[in-house]
Amino acid sequence: ELGFFTYDPGFVSTASCSSDITYMDGEKGILEYRGYPIEQLAHSSSYLETCYLLFHGELPTPEQLENFESEIDNRNMVHEALKNFYNGFRRDAHPMAIMMGVTGALSAFYHDHMDVHNKEDRETAMLRLVAKIPTIAAWSYRHAKGLPFMYADSSMSYSENFLYMMFGSPNKKYVADPVHVKAFDLILILHADHEQNASTSTVRLSGSSEANPFAAVAAGVATLWGPSHGGANEAVIRMLEDIIKSGKTLESFVDRAKDKSDRFRLMGFGHRVYKAYDPRARIIREVCHDILRDLPADSPYKEMLDTAMKLEEVALNDEYFKSRNLYPNVDFYSGVIFLAMGIPLNMFTVLFAMARTIGWISQWNEMMGDEESRIGRPRQLYTGKETREYVEMSDR
Ligand code: SDX
Repeated sequence: ELGFFTYDPGFVSTASCSSDITYMDGEKGILEYRGYPIEQLAHSSSYLETCYLLFHGELPTPEQLENFESEIDNRNMVHEALKNFYNGFRRDAHPMAIMMGVTGALSAFYHDHMDVHNKEDRETAMLRLVAKIPTIAAWSYRHAKGLPFMYADSSMSYSENFLYMMFGSPNKKYVADPVHVKAFDLILILHADHEQNASTSTVRLSGSSEANPFAAVAAGVATLWGPSHGGANEAVIRMLEDIIKSGKTLESFVDRAKDKSDRFRLMGFGHRVYKAYDPRARIIREVCHDILRDLPADSPYKEMLDTAMKLEEVALNDEYFKSRNLYPNVDFYSGVIFLAMGIPLNMFTVLFAMARTIGWISQWNEMMGDEESRIGRPRQLYTGKETREYVEMSDR
């Protein structure tokens, strides 16, 4: 028994670690951050308050939250020399490639004299990452567009600031749509942490060698990029584009997704853990429908978004999908919302990485704060050749 939970021996043997941070029940569709249901946090919290909760383990008092927000504000600039990294990337470089490179490069600017075994140093690393990732992310978009880099404006909230650095301009006032700011902050909360998913496990394993946290988070960014993981939100839209271009029926794509001989999968559907509806998808689905309701009739995305909603309906009523508990996951809806907000497709996974940074660094902090923590060393089941003698080239 682990504390007040009782795990079956099979589960414990596959568990890669124990953690106090996030609880998931895939059968019941439950997700809790530090014991607080995601539904309550989504409804009542802000992303920065959720960051405080994930890292420190308790909801902040008003004073603690104010202090935390000011600590983040004081760090949302990056060393000017980091700009040089962007000049080295082609304009059409995928922003996740830039994120991977620049996040890892933070090690060269902010890791001097930090001790991963020192609690205060670990908190400073968290503050620096949560504060700087939005700037790095927004600049990857500005670089692609050849636009001047915008600096954070501390009079704005975290999410408003990001949209300002993305879409603002030095020569005219920019006011973010409050509906978009609220939707974006909610999406950040929903993506903040998710137990031992592939990218978080990568951060833990790379951090367990005592590598610095910026390098470990850069490894998490790399892992998240894959279309089976965080890259799914971008892959959903590309799939919808293909469906529309093909002129074929939605049912034909759903049938193709069932064909084992074809690697095609319905992007945005299914989940390794959730065999009930992803609780985050249930929350974000409402936001998605609200934003679509307000979408201008002449929106260039109208057809795409209508197709997404029709695909959702076809899949939810399909026996193959129902029998395998394949529901739309959080990535199905987040891609649709980002599109409706005018966020470019290749930035979708960057936003996921931005949101998940607090989860990665909180799990890293929990691991490094454990005196018993040692370098991870997964083993394998060897299925190769039996021992055999070397054969000289002349005898081959
Ligand atoms: C994220 O781990 C996390 O927590 C991740 C994440 C997070 O917050 O960090 O939640 C974020 O990565 C969400 C998932 C985003 N990925 C996608 O939307 C890509 C599309 N989904 C599939 O690739 C798939 O569902 C996975 C990769 C997510 C899970 O794959 P699994 O583990 O193989 O799923 P499964 O074991 O539950 O599959 C059961 C059956 C299998 O068929 P059978 O062997 O029973 O015949 O369902 C099939 C699968 O082939 N299946 C699908 C499908 N997903 C699973 N068939 C068609 N389309 C799909 N999308």
